[in-house]
Amino acid sequence: MKKRWLALFSVLGTVISLHCRGQAPSVNNIVPKPVSYTATDERPVTLSRHTVILADDEYKAQAEYLQGLLLDQCDLALAIAPPDTKVGRHSRIMLVHDTIEANRPEMYWLESGGPVVRIKARDVAGMVHGIQTFLQLLPLGKVKEVKFPTVEIKDYPRFAYRGMHLDVSRHIFPVDFLKKYIDYLAFHKFNNFHWHLTDDQGWRLEIKSYPKLTQVGAWRNSTLIGHFKDTPARYDSTRYGGFYTQDQVREIVQYAAVRGINVIPEIDIPGHSRAIIASYPEFSTKPDSAWQVANTWGMYNRQNNVLAPNPATFKFLETVFHEVADLFPSEYIHLGGDECSKMWWKADPKTQAFMKANGIKDEKELQTYFIKQVSGYLAQKNKKVIGWHEILEGNLDTTAVVMNWGGAKQGIEAAQRRHPVIMSPGNPLYFDNYQSKDPKDSLAIHGYNPLDAVYHFNPVPAELQQLKLDRYILGAQANVWTEYMGYPSKVEYMVFPRMTALSEVLWTDPKQKDFADFKRRLKAAILPRYTFWGSAYFKDFERWTLADK
Ligand code: ACM
Repeated sequence: MKKRWLALFSVLGTVISLHCRGQAPSVNNIVPKPVSYTATDERPVTLSRHTVILADDEYKAQAEYLQGLLLDQCDLALAIAPPDTKVGRHSRIMLVHDTIEANRPEMYWLESGGPVVRIKARDVAGMVHGIQTFLQLLPLGKVKEVKFPTVEIKDYPRFAYRGMHLDVSRHIFPVDFLKKYIDYLAFHKFNNFHWHLTDDQGWRLEIKSYPKLTQVGAWRNSTLIGHFKDTPARYDSTRYGGFYTQDQVREIVQYAAVRGINVIPEIDIPGHSRAIIASYPEFSTKPDSAWQVANTWGMYNRQNNVLAPNPATFKFLETVFHEVADLFPSEYIHLGGDECSKMWWKADPKTQAFMKANGIKDEKELQTYFIKQVSGYLAQKNKKVIGWHEILEGNLDTTAVVMNWGGAKQGIEAAQRRHPVIMSPGNPLYFDNYQSKDPKDSLAIHGYNPLDAVYHFNPVPAELQQLKLDRYILGAQANVWTEYMGYPSKVEYMVFPRMTALSEVLWTDPKQKDFADFKRRLKAAILPRYTFWGSAYFKDFERWTLADK
């Protein structure tokens, strides 16, 4: 009898205390799914405002990052102290620099029991991943106390390169949103932010040596209204633009670094250069024309947007890429190289004379000549290049990383030529494509990349596996071209939940993947996160699948 009463009180006690004590979410809900994990209720760690974060010197910045996240998520304000601090009876979260057990890049161990939650990692990215997993195991909302389960999680990524891109040329986004975007990447264990800073519709990076790039090139007089295919075309006749100062860039790069994210800037040349030639017509094949920053989308072969190969242009490229190299710590700088129409070079006698004088046999080789020149300028600053797959139209040395926006075929070709490859195929990794076939869905470029297409994507084409060339695939990236994304919540609507699916493609061993279970975790743990962040997302992801062709 006595025992029963005790049991009843204990059940009631649990129910009552859940209101002020948080219940830790299940280890089975983590996204992306970890390599291995176990959890028991045996010796839960009591976390409260008395808990102290003890951080090794290497992870001081991550301790502050964790402190901020705990305050946001649980309203727990914790102190930070050096690792050997005595904290008496209080529980502690230890951020430990460890190169022995954490024996791979970006790996972390998360262990807990009794008074300690311990995250061990060999590098900043690994520590950040451990912090993200830890936060996924804490309640989403204010708590006074949490019983954190006893866990042992060992985890590391499948691919070394896990990227998300954002085009800020077609539409520009505030620094605060870029930080939010970087937070989204960090949560999902991505490690590269590809920042598409320049294009025909606007140059968005302050360059001290060429101020007209932002005085002129950052502004367009008008923007297309509605879809590119609508006829007649309509324009809003409103000046639009803006740019990021070098101080803002440094702020963003630093913000990303604390979160284990590398920022790769893209300066897109020798095509996609309309904003450059609007600022400095002398770099175009028609220096006497009046150029304007583009006000419509899709320029290829329709409007001249290429750089002319003359000494002033190459001096410009050297100076700009040197400034960019000094601004971004990234080992790799992206030089674009995509969709360079050859017809303007063919039609220009001076370009033809330049080719003849330099023994360049055709316009494809001229494109490669530009890429080689810029690679050389970047090598002087110890940087390597990434370019879109068109850079392989000519012969390049194999340090250049190929970002393939075509299909498996281009990826296979690049790997066969011994280039490292980042897979970024339009189908299914352009998140500017539609995620439904509903005619009322918000405007997108074209195409159809529903959630299941993203989840089932394998960055390693089967043929490469057979050829034993899979090691050339560094990873993958989703691209977000913003012609039809004029404001941050539209970007969120387009990336969520597809970005969450991609995080599991890039992180988790394919043998552990399961779409039904992914959707269960998405609904149980991640949709509430989007809401908590105040982020928009596409809600009808279960209705629209690849079967709806
Ligand atoms: C691209 O979509 N032109 C990279």
